[in-house]
Amino acid sequence: MNELNPNDFVITRKRKKYKFALFNNYPICFEEAEWSKRQKCNIIELGAGTGLFSLSLAKLYPKKSVVAIDIKGDRLQTGAKLAIDNNIQNIKFLRVRADQLIDLIKLKSLDGIWLTFSDPYPKKRSSGRRLTSPHYLEIYKKLLKNNGNIFFKTDSKVFFEWSLEQFAKEKLVIRDITFNLHNSDLPAEYKTMTAYERKFVNQGMAIMFAKVSKK
Ligand SMILES: C[S@@+](CC[C@H](N)C(=O)[O-])C[C@H]1O[C@@H](n2cnc3c(N)ncnc32)[C@H](O)[C@@H]1O
Repeated sequence: MNELNPNDFVITRKRKKYKFALFNNYPICFEEAEWSKRQKCNIIELGAGTGLFSLSLAKLYPKKSVVAIDIKGDRLQTGAKLAIDNNIQNIKFLRVRADQLIDLIKLKSLDGIWLTFSDPYPKKRSSGRRLTSPHYLEIYKKLLKNNGNIFFKTDSKVFFEWSLEQFAKEKLVIRDITFNLHNSDLPAEYKTMTAYERKFVNQGMAIMFAKVSKK
């Protein structure tokens, strides 16, 4: 892509375009066309927003390659800037939709897929858009290693319970489950908060969590 000058957009007060320009220029940020197909990686976060949680994963697992994925480049650039400033080298930021992943990530390469506060799409007619709907679960099963896991966090009980049903229908095995993560004995690794999670926890809301595996 051509180099853009972010300051052109600041002057015109186009904040969103300014952030897109930053995303465009960071070497660790990728659009679909810039990403070589079927790349091998270890951990992805889907709907990563600012990607700060992915950054925590990259720090926690320095030998693993992490990819923060979202459709909004203006959000992802926040995490990308921090990764560059802190010289964290095992993370990339990819601006695509979840349904595009099958062509972008090497099959059976993933140890983990994190679904963090995915949009719950409360209306039943929109349930196919939920990132735990069967269409997406089929994709995740193809991308995960045989011993790979899906880690799912949400504040929505309706979405959580519906997702548990989908996991069962897709013959995924629930390994860990809680309706109140921050009041549970589950490992500290699961309790690292995303931006949305911190907001919900500060409002006194319970966070639901499940770890699900293929076998
Ligand atoms: C509620 S936010 C959660 C952000 C972050 N995970 C957190 O917990 O702070 C949901 C994010 O999912 C992204 N998103 C929604 N549908 C998506 C899709 N099909 N593919 C990729 N990202 C998606 C949105 O752009 C948004 O940034």
